[in-house]
Amino acid sequence: MRELSLHILDIVENSVKANATLIQVDIEVKNGYLYITVVDNGKGMSEEFLAKVVDPFTTTRTTRKVGLGIPLIKQAAEVAEGEFSITSKLGEGTTVKTSYKLDSIDRVPLGDVPETITTLLYPNIEFVWRYAVNGEEFIFDTREVKEELQGVPIDSPEILVFLKSLLKENIDSINGGIII
Ligand SMILES: Nc1ncnc2c1ncn2[C@@H]1O[C@H](COP(=O)(O)OP(=O)(O)OP(=O)(O)O)[C@@H](O)[C@H]1O
Ligand SMILES: [Mg+2]
Repeated sequence: MRELSLHILDIVENSVKANATLIQVDIEVKNGYLYITVVDNGKGMSEEFLAKVVDPFTTTRTTRKVGLGIPLIKQAAEVAEGEFSITSKLGEGTTVKTSYKLDSIDRVPLGDVPETITTLLYPNIEFVWRYAVNGEEFIFDTREVKEELQGVPIDSPEILVFLKSLLKENIDSINGGIII
């Protein structure tokens, strides 16, 4: 895939399908590496299922026989001299951790994080996005935003436009001119 944010979309979609109500996404640059972690409180997986989840032929999809979200992010991390891990507990949730060497020749760019965040707004799912670069961080918590909105749907068109520009401003400022 051309961008790591598309992998984030895939992994978060898995959490959504697993009926998570809280999803935390952490994107952090430090010590020459990019770290992406997705934690959900969804239905989780059994030990047996988890052991085979990195295999493309493991899926609970009914529309096709392969599931690629997890194998592809694992590959993206490993070709970029990073690591992949997944932990999960039935009834408790799942954590997917990846890292990428920033200057690895095979690392694809992070891509459009504000777009990714605003694509993933749901009325009934809360997100905590943490974006940090070399010690500076920005946290976007949908619970706080929803409180401010006082009943206006977080995914309504005018709110989306506003949130996208708010996110872009903050992320650009944290990036400090560097393209990740
Ligand atoms: N966060 C999660 N919580 C619970 N189960 C999960 C989670 N992530 C993945 N799974 C399980 O692992 C399977 C494989 O996931 P993967 O993303 O690799 O493929 P997929 O979601 O089935 O298909 P695709 O991502 O290609 O649409 C899923 O079908 C689902 O059963
Ligand atoms: Mg998937």
